[in-house]
Amino acid sequence: MVFEFTSPTRLVFGQGTFRRLGEEAALLGRRALLVTGTRSLAQTGHLDRARELLSASGVESIVYGGVPPNPTVETVDDGAALARRERCDLVVAVGGGSVMDAGKAMAVVATHDTTARQLLVAEAGRDKTVPTAATLPVLCVTSTAGTSSELTPFAVITISDSHEKMALRSPHIQPRVSICDPELTYSVPPNVTAATGVDVLCHAMEAFVSTAAQPLTDLLALEAIGLVGRYLPRAVRAGQDHQAREQMLLANVYAGYALANCGATVMHAMEHPVSGHYPHIAHGAGLAALILPWVRRVGPRLPEKMTTLAAALGGSEAGLTRVSAAADVEDALADLLRSIGMDLRLRDLGVADDMLTQMATDTLRYMRLAVAKTPGGLTAADVLDLYEDAY
Ligand SMILES: [Fe+2]
Repeated sequence: MVFEFTSPTRLVFGQGTFRRLGEEAALLGRRALLVTGTRSLAQTGHLDRARELLSASGVESIVYGGVPPNPTVETVDDGAALARRERCDLVVAVGGGSVMDAGKAMAVVATHDTTARQLLVAEAGRDKTVPTAATLPVLCVTSTAGTSSELTPFAVITISDSHEKMALRSPHIQPRVSICDPELTYSVPPNVTAATGVDVLCHAMEAFVSTAAQPLTDLLALEAIGLVGRYLPRAVRAGQDHQAREQMLLANVYAGYALANCGATVMHAMEHPVSGHYPHIAHGAGLAALILPWVRRVGPRLPEKMTTLAAALGGSEAGLTRVSAAADVEDALADLLRSIGMDLRLRDLGVADDMLTQMATDTLRYMRLAVAKTPGGLTAADVLDLYEDAY
């Protein structure tokens, strides 16, 4: 057995740990580009608190607010220009996955002779820009139990004109420190809690079945799946359920380590074209539509893993046959999705049926490395079948 596992981000986890933002930032820089999303953090007072904490530790903050869901290359270029103008030496991203991804990409563009687009695609006569150690250090504070961006070397950015939602991958954008304080997630509304929770579930399930899976990621993925099954419905029902919020954030951490070490597989490969073409669709909602088709297609190929997955979701391994294990997982997942209001199909999300072929082509063009980690592989016809099943 041979495997590698890495986790270079120092994780600070627990209730009240947000108060450590200033002291942690002061170890990395003196002038922070403080990246946030749309209004919610300002409304909850977390943005003001972040500025106060930074200031109290001698770190000036220059706010780049309003990062939208599914951030674009233009957003990244804007924020990076501000960081350059203001001579920032640090990026502090406080928010959900979109904010953290945008902040990580800004840290590169601010310090390299490049645009965000050139980080993602090669152009005529020019290779993609490769981030170097000149990248500004990044500190993340996550406000959702969702994308695990605070623990990964990935930043997902959309190229506006081609609608390609592409992942930048570099060890230099791996956050130096991440603060995971469940108190910041208490005010997340039920629909966002549900969508981000589905993202956690998919990171864990995809890592668990990935061809890159290994013993440590299996452990973490299974633990994450079990916690999602137990605590996501509670967190959606009652945002102030502190135990559920804490356990979901822990699930997010476990899934993040699995994702960072395995990468995504076919569900993420197929979701990126969905929210790439339809930016109003939350990443987790797009994933929710793909889960049951995925388990119907991939489950029967992995009977042992499906049996374990069924047990993690609250079923019993006893008595499960090779056929019934995948069906059991499908039933358990269908129940879970119903309980959190995420039993969605692509048509419910506003996807046009004549876009399925385009999205299948996109999946195989720019997400082919993730598709390739699907056990047994998938042909172009398989991918289109999966989209049609999800429609
Ligand atoms: Fe994701």
